[in-house]
Formats: sequence, structure tokens, C-alpha cells
Amino acid sequence: MKFTTQTKVGDIAASNPVARQLLEDAGVDYCCGGGKSLHEACHGTSTPAEEILSRLEENSRRTSPEDANWTAAPLNELTRHIREKHHRYVRQAIPRTQALLEKVAAKHGENHKELAEIEEAFAQLGREMIMHMQKEEQILFPYIDALEQAAGGNGSIEPPFFQTVKNPISAMMKEHDAAGDLAKQIRALTGTYTAPADACTSYRALYEELKQLEADLHQHVHLENNILFPRAVEKESAFA
Ligand SMILES: [Fe+2]
Ligand SMILES: [Fe+2]
Repeated sequence: MKFTTQTKVGDIAASNPVARQLLEDAGVDYCCGGGKSLHEACHGTSTPAEEILSRLEENSRRTSPEDANWTAAPLNELTRHIREKHHRYVRQAIPRTQALLEKVAAKHGENHKELAEIEEAFAQLGREMIMHMQKEEQILFPYIDALEQAAGGNGSIEPPFFQTVKNPISAMMKEHDAAGDLAKQIRALTGTYTAPADACTSYRALYEELKQLEADLHQHVHLENNILFPRAVEKESAFA
């Protein structure tokens, strides 16, 4: 979506979560004042509309699709990419979405009972993802990086306490399934992210956040299950 100073701030906020956060940080009222143009909405804030436009453009450039060929790149580049793109995104998105969920539930929870269930499923997903990523970053990824290094270096590696990379991988894959199930549950509870007719801008933004989170989770798990993990197993087998 291409924005101008005449675009409604509510539409900008609903377009993607980072755009919404950008407005939030600039102190632009995109919620109750969502019908105002960006130009109007920036009156009285310290950030000119043009400045916000250039930040939005910068953001859309940075979030271009992942096109690197990860089936051939060194594994330590792939683990770094996963940490810097997906793990970082999840760590930022969880508290942001949690806060938005609390706000929307406080306002609309009475008329939309499913919000309480979404809150519960989301809290569980958040907790599990944080622990999951910690295990990957502290146990599995360092070993995969060491495999890559050993393959390019002296060709030997200390046997890990988990014996073979297949063990943490199978644990991580089970956790991916659990996270996927929770995301599916949230998708069903939100009617595939369709905000109800009485939804305000925050409500719509919440559903957009949840939708984006699921899409990111899909890409993240795809990179691990389908590319990183099989390549790590193969790399390890060379040292057997
Ligand atoms: Fe991960
Ligand atoms: Fe993972």
C-alpha cells in the first residue's frame, strides 16, 4: 500500500504492525482519530507528516521478502538470519501484541467473549516461543555454528552432551507443532483475522498483528524444519 500525507492514519495503522508502532512512537492518534489524514493527524505532534512518510517507506524497504538462497549459504549465516530476523521480531511482537490485546479486551471483552480465549492462547504461545528460542540460541544454534566451523576448519568437533543434533532437533520440531497448533487456534477464534463490524482501529490492528505473527511463524519454522535442521543433520554425519 502506497501512503501519502492524505492517507487516513487508521488505514496506515491497519496496514501492518510496524507502521502502527511507528505512528504510536510518533504520538499520532490513529485510534479514535483514525479517520484523519496523516497531514491532519500530525498537527500538534513533534513529527511532521513527511518525516513519518519517509520512515514508512524505509520500513517497507527493510521488510522486503526473504530471497536469499538458504539451501546453500553457510549454516552460521542462516542461524544468524533466523536470530536477527525472526527471533528478534517475535521478541518485539509479543509484548506489543499483548498490550494491544489487553487494551482491546478491556474495551470490547464484554461484547466479544472470544477475546478472553484469544488472550489465553496468545499468552501460552508467547511463553512457549520465548523459552523455545532461548533453547535454540543457547544449545542448538551454537552447536550448528560449530559444525559449520569444523567443516571448514580442522574437521573435528567435540561430541555434544545431547549426543547427536537429531535429539534437540526432534525436541524443537515438537515445539514447532505445539506453537503451530496455538496459532491455528487463534486463527479460528478470530475467524481468520476478520475483525467484527464494531471493531475500532486498535481491534483491527490487533488482528493484523496476530495475522502477521502467524505468517512470520510459518516462515520461521519453514527455515528451521525444512532447511536448517536437515542440513545440520547432514553436516554432522560427515563427522561420524
Ligand atoms: Fe527459531
Ligand atoms: Fe524453532
